[in-house]
Amino acid sequence: MNEEDHFPQGIAKGNAFLGREKEIKDLRYNITKGHHTLIFGSRRYGKTSLVKRVLEDLNIPYGETNFFISQTPRSVELKIMDTIRSVTNILIGNEAEAGATLSKLSTYFSKAKKKWSFGIKGIVGVEIIPEDDEDIPENILVALNFLESLLSDFNQKAVLFLDEIQEINQIENGFALQGAIREFAQHSKYIVFIFSGSNRRLLSHMFDDRSMPLYELCERLSLGRIGQELYARYINKIAKETKNGELSTETLNQIFLLTKLHPKRVYNLCFQIWKDYEDNKITPEQVEKSWNELLEKKSDVIRGQLKHLNSGALKVLTLVSENNEIPITGKIAQSKVDLTSAAIVNALRALEEEDLIFREQDKYQIVDPLIASFLYKYERYNIKN
Ligand SMILES: Nc1ncnc2c1ncn2[C@@H]1O[C@H](COP(=O)(O)OP(=O)(O)OP(=O)(O)O)[C@@H](O)[C@H]1O
Ligand SMILES: [Mg+2]
Repeated sequence: MNEEDHFPQGIAKGNAFLGREKEIKDLRYNITKGHHTLIFGSRRYGKTSLVKRVLEDLNIPYGETNFFISQTPRSVELKIMDTIRSVTNILIGNEAEAGATLSKLSTYFSKAKKKWSFGIKGIVGVEIIPEDDEDIPENILVALNFLESLLSDFNQKAVLFLDEIQEINQIENGFALQGAIREFAQHSKYIVFIFSGSNRRLLSHMFDDRSMPLYELCERLSLGRIGQELYARYINKIAKETKNGELSTETLNQIFLLTKLHPKRVYNLCFQIWKDYEDNKITPEQVEKSWNELLEKKSDVIRGQLKHLNSGALKVLTLVSENNEIPITGKIAQSKVDLTSAAIVNALRALEEEDLIFREQDKYQIVDPLIASFLYKYERYNIKN
């Protein structure tokens, strides 16, 4: 096994997938019982890794998509059609008599009204030609109903995994799109949805607000960080295999202190340490050097992530990243960032919305510890001492 596999920089798989026992158990249960699930979790906390782990264990056909930068109803339609098409392909690929299935398909089409057949085209590989955007919710509904009926013939469940679902609410006609999903999802027996997203406030608006179509449709699952003991055990196991022995407790603690147990950053840092040092005699100072190395490598990405923030938001983010004990909207904070308390509240809201900060026990914290280091290194003079 090469080092990249010990500390995967993409999806966590195999032995590198740690913990999440309860989440795995709950998600498996929901899927096998046909309950839809909504997974909340900050960016890079491991939503995709968790879902893939469960789906691959269950060996259930699935289609996945991400609405991250979807701007139009047409793009949402295309992405949902893609997930339906992937599942259809898996089913038909499994079937010796694909011909029979396809003939069923054509009967289904001919029964459908004209504008419905438009929706079906998206699945059978015929390109979707934009007609009227108003047809989109109905197209989606028809396509979902089609897949449901196909699955029922195979007596097979399938999962549609729709990531960054909150984006649907931001686009034109988003309400009707959610309405279509609800209309279908509240009766479906074979298609199980997993929705996920990183924007707690928007998700909560979509799923907890009585007036919204997706209200009370799903079981909830919230992803937190992974426990320090699990990381310690795993990192030392790898150190024994590849670095002639375990790391010292101080060294491990330094890893946890710098990464704040942010899943992506723990593996980023370990990967960097493993590259930088030969044996297990790694000091806390050397860990910090690797962290700075990582910061250099990721600085451009971080700059890109922050560049659209306005000056107030940037200052408040810098203040939150200092992680001190002063009340965030109080007099001292106001003078540090040179903003009124109302302006600070606005900035906090915007930052929370972008999943750059989160609130834990009434205190704001930065989601990504590497961004905190970045701000400390380059931007700490944005705020007064
Ligand atoms: N169970 C886990 N054990 C150890 N590391 C994990 C685990 N889950 C995720 N990670 C690490 O966290 C990082 C992010 O994982 P993943 O892509 O699954 O998260 P995500 O929440 O889907 O991210 P995104 O917001 O980009 O969609 C990866 O580098 C992965 O290796
Ligand atoms: Mg993901």
